[in-house]
Amino acid sequence: MQNICVVGTGYVGLTTGVCFADLGNRVTCIEIDIHKLDTLRSGRTPIYEPGLQELLERNLRAGRIVFTDDYVSALVDTSFVFITVGTPMSGNGAADLSQVEASAHSIGLNLTHDAIIIDKSTVPVGTGDMVNKIIAANLRPNISFSIVSNPEFLREGSAISDFFNPDRIVLGADDREAAQRVADLHAPLGAEAIITDLRTAEMIKYASNAFLATRISFINEIAQICEKLGADVKEVARGMGADRRIGPHFLDAGVGYGGSCFPKDVLALYYMAASAGCHPQLLQAVMDINRDARCRFVQKLRDILGTLDGTLIGVLGLSFKPNTDDMREASSVAIINELQAEGARVKAYDPVAMEAASEILPTVTYCATAYDVAKEADALLVVTEWNEFKQLAFDKIKQYMRQPIVLDGRNIYDPMEMQAKGFTYRGVGR
Ligand code: UDX
Repeated sequence: MQNICVVGTGYVGLTTGVCFADLGNRVTCIEIDIHKLDTLRSGRTPIYEPGLQELLERNLRAGRIVFTDDYVSALVDTSFVFITVGTPMSGNGAADLSQVEASAHSIGLNLTHDAIIIDKSTVPVGTGDMVNKIIAANLRPNISFSIVSNPEFLREGSAISDFFNPDRIVLGADDREAAQRVADLHAPLGAEAIITDLRTAEMIKYASNAFLATRISFINEIAQICEKLGADVKEVARGMGADRRIGPHFLDAGVGYGGSCFPKDVLALYYMAASAGCHPQLLQAVMDINRDARCRFVQKLRDILGTLDGTLIGVLGLSFKPNTDDMREASSVAIINELQAEGARVKAYDPVAMEAASEILPTVTYCATAYDVAKEADALLVVTEWNEFKQLAFDKIKQYMRQPIVLDGRNIYDPMEMQAKGFTYRGVGR
């Protein structure tokens, strides 16, 4: 049992805090947003993440996790302090580090004993050194601390199981003994710990996310070529993925990657590289292809309908991927903005993201079911592959629609079957 402090209760912080509590540690989470703090204290999670609510309740009941906005009490007796605050995209594409700086400042001011400070937020290479300086500049005398970079690889929608079943634990530190102590903290997870220096650990996170984004843009480029040459990208990906050197994951062609990580991290890595005098041309292409994947999807609709002006378009799925209500950088936003800009009216349904979506897309008509979206629609667009869209009653949908047109941005339907049911059907890359 260890005393752990987690600064920031976003997706990463809350998952980390709750999971470490579940492993039997005593966790104090610091959250400065009073509304969020009230929600958490009352036992509710402010985000939708499968399994998180149950774990939160269980560990609150057991007294293993508490929430506070007070650094002084949170840092008492703590051996490990995780920094898990947001690092959003700033105007120029670089990561905005103001929250990391502010938390480092507060930790420095309020630490009263030796501790290990672990940076889990995705931060530009070199940030660990900066955090080190800020804490050192604010620290009382005779207290020592070490900085460890421990990038997270949690996916939204499966963050809890990702936490408990990691492929590896990456730890970067100049103080190897501190890194080893953080490795020991993760020992119950049974994963290999990769211990390296601070900057290398920070780079591993960016390189991993950029590589995964590259795989997605790669397969989206192949999809485009498949469409022109009459091949099926889904089968191509299956054939490629069976090669153990390639592997089957992150080869689903579609309307591009979104979310809080890939778009931000690829851009931040691009910015870091360019600022250092490199020429990150592959990263540029990855971003361009991702943007184009969305545009091409709308172009397909334009090709079928002639014009979008005056049409009624139904959109199924709004979150950036299934099993989350997260709308950050969701492909649906770019697609719906383009549809509306050209005079289409849009109605939409998403199992959990409609509340979040309505703030970003206020002029969309939100429906109670997928079938309501189909009513009177000139076309139906699948943008997020929620399970409940996979076996819709298409005979009913066909009757509801003004024109039986389905654009499947995630390739969840069989093209032959859809055509046999009388739909004009277009997937991506097939
Ligand atoms: C990602 C990383 O996977 C995780 O390790 C990191 O810590 C945070 O970023 P996340 O953003 O939650 O996690 O989602 P992920 O499941 O990786 O999907 C990202 C985006 O890529 C989604 O928009 C998804 O639809 C898209 N995607 C994914 C594809 O378009 N094709 C694929 O084959 C896989």
